[in-house]
Amino acid sequence: MRISFAVRPSTLRGAVVVGVWQGRRPTGAFAAIDPHGRLKKALKRLDFDGEAEETELFLAPALPLTTVVVAGLGKKKKLDPTQLRRIGGCILEELDDCRAINATVALDLPPAQAAELAYGLRLKAYRPLAKYRTKRDPDDEDDVLPVLESVVITTPDPQAAAARYAAREHIAQGVFLARDLTDEPGNVLGPAEFADRARLLESLGVEVTVLDETAIAEAGLNLLAAVGRGSNRPPRLVLLRWRGAAGRPLVLVGKGVTFDSGGISIKFDDEDMDAMKGDMGGAAAVIGALRAIAGRKAKAHVCGVLALAENMPSGRAQRPGDVVRSYSGLTVEVIDTDAEGRLVLADALAWAAATLGPKAMVDIATLTGSVEEVLGDPHAGLYANDDGLAGRLLIHSRVEAEPLWRLPLTESCDEDVKSDIADIKNCAWGEVPDNDDAARFLSRFVPEGVAWAHIDMAGKEWADEDDPLAPEAASGFGVRLFDALAGGT
Ligand code: BES
Ligand code: MN
Ligand code: ZN
Repeated sequence: MRISFAVRPSTLRGAVVVGVWQGRRPTGAFAAIDPHGRLKKALKRLDFDGEAEETELFLAPALPLTTVVVAGLGKKKKLDPTQLRRIGGCILEELDDCRAINATVALDLPPAQAAELAYGLRLKAYRPLAKYRTKRDPDDEDDVLPVLESVVITTPDPQAAAARYAAREHIAQGVFLARDLTDEPGNVLGPAEFADRARLLESLGVEVTVLDETAIAEAGLNLLAAVGRGSNRPPRLVLLRWRGAAGRPLVLVGKGVTFDSGGISIKFDDEDMDAMKGDMGGAAAVIGALRAIAGRKAKAHVCGVLALAENMPSGRAQRPGDVVRSYSGLTVEVIDTDAEGRLVLADALAWAAATLGPKAMVDIATLTGSVEEVLGDPHAGLYANDDGLAGRLLIHSRVEAEPLWRLPLTESCDEDVKSDIADIKNCAWGEVPDNDDAARFLSRFVPEGVAWAHIDMAGKEWADEDDPLAPEAASGFGVRLFDALAGGT
């Protein structure tokens, strides 16, 4: 789908989107196509007040216009970037529903606002992987691909809008990369294949280093190796580096379990095990963020670390009760092989802190089912040992509509995860929810003095049907947050 900006479209082809402020106050373009007030009357009958994100479709209200979408803009004062993006997403959905091929969005918005609206429209216009379908069902609305080909957005200064939008197009491409990777089935995307996809970022100027199973063993990343042992497809550790500025890097670490069966502590089949192909959603967010940051040539130094493994049961798999010496030197008793995410992250965090000299380190992971029970929608869990870093993440999370809720690094968890035989154990089944134990477990692998935050995004890797910025598919959660955190515009 093409997005462009123009003072006015050359011809009014296809669908036309016009806007109405709260209280049904018409914008200029609305008034222009409604000289006799018929549309306005119809809106009144429909109880359409012009609230932000409301949309209404009219077919053939005034020839030669065949399709008109009226979009509510809400209150002018409340039209911030977050709101504009959501309105853009709602407009896209309406255009898809009426199967428009071309559309003109004539909302009389200044260039910066037009660019934000375009960004929301683009994010919602993501088309989930269709390459595995050989046939379509023309009678099933959900099985028919949307047909929208081009959208022209009117604004008094199209050059300024296009310049503002350019960076956002790169961020959207990063989000789409994360969504595509999350949606890929486990048989197609194992650790090695994921690493190959990371290598593709070299064309954007990202330095990519891949540690294979031999290098992982030599480096002493034994927790990562232990999680990957049960699979025929060995683990990988990937380092991505974008050097857009001097100084110490922001380090982003992602859990990349390409499929999580639970291992020997195998999951029950009523746990929707197929959704565990998305257990690399954290790693997808990190690679997507680097795609975005490199694409827009950010003046920032950012590293991404992907801890990639497949968690499978087999005769080689690690067992409950095994003791493993981690990269950091701490020994870990593996109580439950399904608590594998914290194991791969523990090694990745300790390795990143020791080798990359981070200015700050943030990990992101589909880590615990319990965080979903504790927080529900729409928040992911945030833990941090540094209030400044936590504060920045919370602010960006609001603007980027990837909401976080801060939870405490409860000290009593240290007692919970004491092992009888080793320094620490990987889960406790104690009084506090498992997401707290997991976060506290990770904190033990972060050296003193390193600013660190942990995002538990379990459940957020899939978008709901009513998400204004994504279709019902993989969400790409975390990309926009990390891109904003990196800054350097
Ligand atoms: N990948 C899962 C967590 C998860 C659950 C992600 C639901 C997305 C949706 C993780 O590896 C896991 O299995 N966690 C266990 C931990 C337990 C064994 C201590 C869990 O949450 O049940
Ligand atoms: Mn698991
Ligand atoms: Zn997992």
